[in-house]
Amino acid sequence: MKSPKNSRKTPIAATGMTRRALLAAGAAGLFAAAGAAPADAPLRRRAAARGMVYGACAGSYQLRDGEYAAALADEANALVPEYELKRSIVEPRPGVLDFSGADALVDFAGEHGMLMRGHTLVWYASNPPWLEQAALKAKDERIFTDYIAQVVGRYRGRIRSWDVVNEAILTSDGRADGLRDNFWLRRFGPGYIDTAFDAASRADPSAQLVYNDWGCEGSEPWNDDFRRATLRLLEGMRKRGVPMHAYGMQAHFRAFRKPVFPDAKKLRSFLAEVKDLGLRLMVSELDVDDAGGPSDDGRRDAIVADITARFLDPVMQSGICDAVLTWGLTDRYLRGKIIPTDLWAYLPRKLPLDARLRRKPMWHAIAKALG
Ligand code: G3I
Repeated sequence: MKSPKNSRKTPIAATGMTRRALLAAGAAGLFAAAGAAPADAPLRRRAAARGMVYGACAGSYQLRDGEYAAALADEANALVPEYELKRSIVEPRPGVLDFSGADALVDFAGEHGMLMRGHTLVWYASNPPWLEQAALKAKDERIFTDYIAQVVGRYRGRIRSWDVVNEAILTSDGRADGLRDNFWLRRFGPGYIDTAFDAASRADPSAQLVYNDWGCEGSEPWNDDFRRATLRLLEGMRKRGVPMHAYGMQAHFRAFRKPVFPDAKKLRSFLAEVKDLGLRLMVSELDVDDAGGPSDDGRRDAIVADITARFLDPVMQSGICDAVLTWGLTDRYLRGKIIPTDLWAYLPRKLPLDARLRRKPMWHAIAKALG
């Protein structure tokens, strides 16, 4: 079913309304507290003082850890499910929907005045085993537009910002448009992206709709290819009047093993072009993998913090960043598991708080960037 053209009456001006609605709903009352943040103010307070949000991804199982839940409520005014709004979890069998994990996270965000983000509606990964074949045989786009209508409709007015399509670009697949050769593209062509955004906009016209991806942060030639392909995609969507309001920059960095560092000069230029398209920016999954680093935690933490600062500097200067979310708040969890305390010394140190929920240099780098 082709999306009605009238769903694309989303003038750029609406982006501002969407942003105002997004920030007002997501951090209601927090701006009343806006103003200079005291030196030890939590990240949510610093973000709110700039009309932004700071947050993290989480799994609902983590909310049962009381001291973690308190730290999350203290530091974050934004929240996104790490995996419980992915179709592999939501629809394990055709038509059987499980929102239990997502509901717990949405409730927690509502109780703590947090902007709730949804991640993600259309992706080539984290799908239930039955989906790919069903999509390749589907007679029309309802295989994903109906799903979007159900999921976005359920959380209308509660999830204020959605990663509608995730990681649709992979320039190494060799297509002239730089798009990833995934099963959605093979069945429906490049138009699946516009169709997904139209469906999300119809399900919740006031939600901020985000295209989320990685690959535009670094200094390698392949990053240049990613930035060109990303800008081509975003510009085309804007020209077609697709209701897409922001670019989600995942911002996964690596400090030591196969390093991925931010290229400030190229980021500034890229973000200026994103701004010229009338789009906002969400830093959606920031973390700095410290695998392969020195055994001295202090040195690892300092290098992780330096990469964080070098990334956030051009981001904050862009003037279009509404949110900074890290892909987790604390080092305490690993691949969905609560790690026993006697193993905490061996955990990655890629997030703002350590396993004991103490603020690390990365936290201070984010705090400084937010001001
Ligand atoms: O499915 C079980 C669930 O039943 C169980 O209750 C839970 C807790 O033990 O674990 C779940 O297992 C896995 C989950 O991670 C726990 O961490 C899922 O099967 C597994 O698919 C899931 O992997 C996630 C991965 O995306 C694939 O969805 C990771 O958590 C998540 O960090 C990772 O995040 C991605 C972003 O979505 C997109 N950008 C890259 C980023 C990092 O890879």
